[in-house]
Amino acid sequence: MLSRISARALTAALGGWRTREPAYEALADGIRLLCLDNRIAPRTALPAERELAAALGLSRSTVAAAYGSLRASGHIESVRGSGSITMPLGRRDVGRVTPDTDSIDLQQASPAAWPGLAGVIAAVASDAPSIVARSGYDVLGTPALRALIADDYSARGIATDPSQIMVTTGAQSAIHLIAGVLVGRGDPVVLETPTYPHAADAFAAAGARLIGVPVTTQDGWDLDRATQVFSRSLPVLAYLMPRFQNPTGRTMRPEEQQTILTAAERAGTFLVLDETTADLGIDQTSAEASFAIAPASSRTVLRVGSLGKTVWGGLRIGWIRADPDVIRRLVAARPARELGTPELEQAIAAALFAHMPAIREQRSAVLREGRDALTAALSAHIPEWQVPSTAGGVALWVGLGAPLSSSLVLRARNEGVLLSAGPRFSIDGGHERHLRLPFTAPADQLVRAVEVLSRAWDRVRGETPAQFGEPLEAVV
Ligand SMILES: Cc1ncc(COP(=O)(O)O)c(C=O)c1O
Repeated sequence: MLSRISARALTAALGGWRTREPAYEALADGIRLLCLDNRIAPRTALPAERELAAALGLSRSTVAAAYGSLRASGHIESVRGSGSITMPLGRRDVGRVTPDTDSIDLQQASPAAWPGLAGVIAAVASDAPSIVARSGYDVLGTPALRALIADDYSARGIATDPSQIMVTTGAQSAIHLIAGVLVGRGDPVVLETPTYPHAADAFAAAGARLIGVPVTTQDGWDLDRATQVFSRSLPVLAYLMPRFQNPTGRTMRPEEQQTILTAAERAGTFLVLDETTADLGIDQTSAEASFAIAPASSRTVLRVGSLGKTVWGGLRIGWIRADPDVIRRLVAARPARELGTPELEQAIAAALFAHMPAIREQRSAVLREGRDALTAALSAHIPEWQVPSTAGGVALWVGLGAPLSSSLVLRARNEGVLLSAGPRFSIDGGHERHLRLPFTAPADQLVRAVEVLSRAWDRVRGETPAQFGEPLEAVV
């Protein structure tokens, strides 16, 4: 069965695609990138040339030339009766370097596991006979782990009872569950832009109308826009990352938290605080809680946490802290999606809580090494890029000074460095002037990646007419 993408959906996904000349190659690059990011699945029928031309305000011959370029590079095939169909990975990377062992994959920002993890797993495994004697999974979370998570919040000044906690298989499934339960078709949902793309996808899949509130590395959250959006659109939910926001690395100042909390309370908006990256402080590791000003028994503030970045993504342990009534609604809706969290992983997670101070120290050291190596390499090789100073989190949100992120990412991919372009983090197609560079990979890989990027940048700049590459001062 073929799926289809409408001209309207493709236009929205492409966003500010027109970053270089000729236009047909820029359009083809935009579609290539959507395929590489899996935002257009293999075996999807693209819109008819005439429809896409009308939606984009282009001549039909420009779209025909873009489709021709995609055919030539093996990204699409023309199928009689079905039009232009995207090809599965591998075939569509004809003439390109496909992901392999030599490539450096910076599309995900996942630090390697905390080195003590294997020992903790081995110790917990000695109790495996008692775990396998039970069903082995549960929809709410084990009492032991829920109590530990609740205690951890309480220790950070957010008094928490285990009835406010449910354990999930990672933060992503927590976000997906929240979106499915609290958001209806057409409901306005506020997200930061740039944001964590899989959260945006989860809310979009629930039928939400996504509304962006800008966050910049220099100025933080756009509070004027935020207050307007809350009062005018009365969003059902706002999804925010208050500490070491992914990808900007920004942390909300107390006054930003206060303004957003007040606006959300007035609008009756559920505030979903994703704290997956909150423990990843580099320059200081005290894990202070954001939004401690919200009442501990708030019915509308939800917090999402995870051990994914703090310990290891492979553990798949996350959680939700919410009002017990909201927890009951989430628990009731969960089995249709998945039956629960494995108990073995929960037992490992529970054992890990005793090691948290050491884990935070180790994470901070690893992330510091990555951040400093990446920052030094960027300043040596590509000094014109605007590199923010970032106190924690997983990535640098780098300003390129020109809207060339997609072209650069495609070019770097040819040379084995895999990245996601700025627009992937946007909810409306913007951010062509930015690139997310995770610093979670080993330092030597980061340095090699910057060397490749520097060469790719020179070429992309060289191919770009001046009007597409004006200096950063011109950025609005
Ligand atoms: C902000 C944010 N939230 C959630 C997730 C998903 O986390 P998990 O691995 O726990 O599902 C990630 C992972 O990249 C993330 O960066």
